Amino acid sequence: MAAIVVDELVKLYGDLRAVDGLSFSIPEGEVFALLGPNGAGKTTTVEILEGHRKRTSGRVEVLGQDPETGGRALRERIGIVLQEAGFDEDFTPRELVSLYRRMYPRRLGADDVLELVGIGEKRDAKVKTLSGGQRRRLDLALGLVGDPELLFLDEPTTGFDPEARRKAWELVENLRAMGKTVLLTTHYMDEAEHLADRVAVIARGRLVALGTPEELAATSRATSVLSFRLPAGVEPSDLPQLDGQVLHEGLDWQIPTSQPTLALSRLTSWAVARSIDVPSLSVSRPSLEDTYLALVGANGATGTEQRAAGTVQAAVTETPR
Ligand SMILES: Nc1ncnc2c1ncn2[C@@H]1O[C@H](COP(=O)(O)OP(=O)(O)O)[C@@H](O)[C@H]1O
Ligand SMILES: [Mg+2]
Repeated sequence: MAAIVVDELVKLYGDLRAVDGLSFSIPEGEVFALLGPNGAGKTTTVEILEGHRKRTSGRVEVLGQDPETGGRALRERIGIVLQEAGFDEDFTPRELVSLYRRMYPRRLGADDVLELVGIGEKRDAKVKTLSGGQRRRLDLALGLVGDPELLFLDEPTTGFDPEARRKAWELVENLRAMGKTVLLTTHYMDEAEHLADRVAVIARGRLVALGTPEELAATSRATSVLSFRLPAGVEPSDLPQLDGQVLHEGLDWQIPTSQPTLALSRLTSWAVARSIDVPSLSVSRPSLEDTYLALVGANGATGTEQRAAGTVQAAVTETPR
């Protein structure tokens, strides 16, 4: 059975089509990522599924029920980690988790869940003394304490340092091993690639691609790149004719090509015939990141967002809304 069905979902805020005809379904036990830049409609979609926002039109089903009418019975079977949760700063994690725990018929131990998310040692500290990453882990603890079948994680690692991020990833992997269904949103493509069985790329409220990370990378519109360093004593004009526009910086050459085998063969035949060794020779295939940038770029993200998404952290910039 599908844990989640979304069919032609639309959400308007005034004239803005924040979600614009989105359809997908998530089988039980799958870790599914909604990947897209800021403002793509991820939080809106997730909040509609959680029953926190009303949709304008379309059909949604969560564990077989409509979240607008599912009420408490449905609410008790799902776990929610909001993108921005507010806590009472004078409570401790243990107090907050104990409070939430009482609302659920099925539940985990308060101390166990705090250990599970890695803030066991902070359980009796006031929330106001916790770091940003520790607060996000407390969010996770609150989402998990009801032992949900289905968990919504809205940007679970935004603002985490690399260590906290790795721990959060491990946690999601544990949830998968426990057979939970997880819908997570992220604007980190490496996170989607690492965690998700399937990824839906959305931009401006529309689905622009859906598949496993491997499938998405394979359908890339981005091209392969042949890279090498100009061999000593060779002038650029000595090189054979290579398919594609040449980009070079000093001695480092990069040739984007849709025919990497042919380009590589021309270059290596030329070099072997002259007993020339071509240093740093490589061909890189498009990654999911390249695919994502091509998809999101073609579907209306700004240049700034695309450039930021190409940085090491591979994140799309936070633009205030
Ligand atoms: N309550 C709201 N009222 C009006 N516009 C909103 C509201 N919430 C979100 N939006 C707008 O809807 C679009 C999608 O937002 P959101 O779902 O938060 O995207 P994401 O989570 O992908 O960043 C954005 O343009 C945002 O500014
Ligand atoms: Mg959001």
